[in-house]
Amino acid sequence: MDIDLADLSFWRKPLKERYEAFARLRQLDKPVFFPEKKVPLLRSGSGFYALVRHADVVEASRNAKVFSSEPAVTNPEPPGWVKYVFGESMVNMDDPRHARLRRIVSRAFSPRMLANLQGDIEAACARIVDDLAPGDFVGQVAAKLPIHVICDMMGIPDAERARVHKHVDVSTAYSGIRPSFFRSLTMAGQNVLALLALQRLVIRLGHERTGNPGSDLVTALVTANPDGERLTDRELGSFFSLLLVAGNETARNTMAHGIKLLTDNPAQRELLTSDFDAHIGNTIEEMVRFVSPIMQFRRTVTDDYELNGLELKKGDKVVLFYGSANRDEAVFPDPDSFDITRDTKPHVGFGGPGPHFCLGANLARQELRTMFRELLTRLPDIRAVGEPELLVSNFDNSVRRQAFTF
Ligand code: HEM
Repeated sequence: MDIDLADLSFWRKPLKERYEAFARLRQLDKPVFFPEKKVPLLRSGSGFYALVRHADVVEASRNAKVFSSEPAVTNPEPPGWVKYVFGESMVNMDDPRHARLRRIVSRAFSPRMLANLQGDIEAACARIVDDLAPGDFVGQVAAKLPIHVICDMMGIPDAERARVHKHVDVSTAYSGIRPSFFRSLTMAGQNVLALLALQRLVIRLGHERTGNPGSDLVTALVTANPDGERLTDRELGSFFSLLLVAGNETARNTMAHGIKLLTDNPAQRELLTSDFDAHIGNTIEEMVRFVSPIMQFRRTVTDDYELNGLELKKGDKVVLFYGSANRDEAVFPDPDSFDITRDTKPHVGFGGPGPHFCLGANLARQELRTMFRELLTRLPDIRAVGEPELLVSNFDNSVRRQAFTF
């Protein structure tokens, strides 16, 4: 077979070629095993089975007892010091540890908390659009909003925000195989210190709020919920790191791919703008399906299990390829077309159904809805120019640059 999902060269291919390869893998009887490559400075295991069909990704996501998120959901495994810096993150935990953390932090994403954020998201989008000049969409738009929102949620003072911006890129550099990995590693020393400093800052905020509670998120996290549960200092720091990783690149890449999709599909764009409120909800779901901003997460099998004719053994690794599941023709007819009227409900862009389903999905939807409303109403001619410059990654479907004009 000429397809090797474990090799970086696969992830350098244009997206279209990669999707064609996944379409071929979906036609095979069973998930294919890919022996892992040795990546310097990363632990490598024996290899993984690639789950490429929608039904398989859903089954593995749902059955978290057998398909464990421990010791980590990234592939290959991150070095031990990353765990030290980021702390143990709920995304890499199984219940009951995961469930406890999720119960506590879910309050950050309650409808009331999200409604409180709306005015601020609108103001941030308006400021971003005020300052626009034709150039790079990622730098001017997509990279700005999600990080701003996370800082607002956590109550990071303005003076510290430049530091967050500067050091946030490195936090995503460990989650996949990237050419920037070594460059990132050389920057790691100073960035790790900066990240730890940011964690300390959030912990300090937590202490302040414990004595002087407000209606903000940090207060909600450090004061006990009805079951008497609260985050410890270390957990609060780790949660902030997780938000920076999970909530930043994902929303930013959806926006960047999104403007390109609206440019390349004028009929869909016309339909959207003909009745923005009626269509924007499904447009965002279709963007997330089509883009699949997180291309893969891994699970480790805890017990012998038969998945769709494949005999899995305890300890085997499986990788859930969301981008492939989201183009499975058994679920999405004509999957390579961007169609804002299709039934997007079953998409797995925010993860499959199960305990780890994206906690920030509604926040991401809110950010995307508000930003596209601002862009399309104030700059009706806004459009992408040329092709995006993509980052080579097996994890994020990441746009580094996308030229635009209006
Ligand atoms: C379009 C944007 C986004 C996409 C495509 C996305 C995708 C995902 C996916 C696929 C997972 C599942 C992980 C798994 O099953 O192992 C996940 C989990 C998670 N996401 Fe998102 N995400 C997005 C935005 C956000 C935002 C804005 C936040 C917060 C600010 C966020 C916070 C989280 C958290 C905390 C988890 C872990 C949940 C758990 O382990 O219980 N995400 N996300």
